Amino acid sequence: MTESLVDRVIRRQRWLEKAADVLQGGVGAVYGALGRPGRALKNVMHGTGVLGHPLHPAISDLPIGAWAAGVVADYVAHFSSALPTQAADVALALGLSAAVLAALTGLTDYHETIGHERRVATAHGLTMVAVVALEAASLALRWFGSSTLHPLAVGLSTVGFAGVMAGGYLGGHLVFGLGTMVNRNAFAEGPEDYVAVGMGADFPEGEMHRVNAAGMPALLVRRAGTLHAIAAVCSHAGGPLDEGTLEGTRVTCPWHGSIFSVESGRVFQGPATFDQPTFAVREREGRVELKLAAPSH
Ligand code: FES
Repeated sequence: MTESLVDRVIRRQRWLEKAADVLQGGVGAVYGALGRPGRALKNVMHGTGVLGHPLHPAISDLPIGAWAAGVVADYVAHFSSALPTQAADVALALGLSAAVLAALTGLTDYHETIGHERRVATAHGLTMVAVVALEAASLALRWFGSSTLHPLAVGLSTVGFAGVMAGGYLGGHLVFGLGTMVNRNAFAEGPEDYVAVGMGADFPEGEMHRVNAAGMPALLVRRAGTLHAIAAVCSHAGGPLDEGTLEGTRVTCPWHGSIFSVESGRVFQGPATFDQPTFAVREREGRVELKLAAPSH
């Protein structure tokens, strides 16, 4: 398979690495300085425990929709009297307000990107920064400039909307092409009938073990004598939960620190936003058997 033109062009932009170091470092420093409230805020910005999926794609629809409405309103107002020129101004202002939240949620997800995914995310983010600058300049001309500058303001927001399309394409490429923030267990096939994965003695109290449940990796943990099992592949980006750390009934992913319950699969801390699939576990005649607690498809 040949790499797409977009990927090839972005891969050659070495300067994106430096920009990414600065941006990711800044995001980490801000959340780190905020301490425990920062962790709670970061969870909200990821969408962890809020939507059950990432917040950024939902929020980013708001400025895109507002700016699209603004461009349409500008041209309707220009070619007819059906709308006042102020209609587009309001849409632009709403879009800029929503863009602040879109930027915060996007930067939060961006903080954990790596490699080529990080380069594409940086290009996406910088494109959107340019868009915000164009929309802000357009709004400033509308509010503070003379009427002779209005065509320039319309031109700036029209060019800005073309930038939104380009930035949106890169954002879509991140998710659909590179799998950023996609649930890594979405395509997992697990057993719907019990399968044996070992003997009871193989799973002592408080130890984490990775087993193969008919092709699906599972993390098995015995707590207070009872065995619990969740998918071993982290829903965020595929980290091996069995190599993480276990505290009580919570396991921390070794890659980016998401925390899940080994009893319910529930995510307590992001960047993961999806819960882990869970398994029903039984011990029969010394054998440990698992099946998915709920069908995956
Ligand atoms: S892979 Fe990112 S937190 Fe697990």
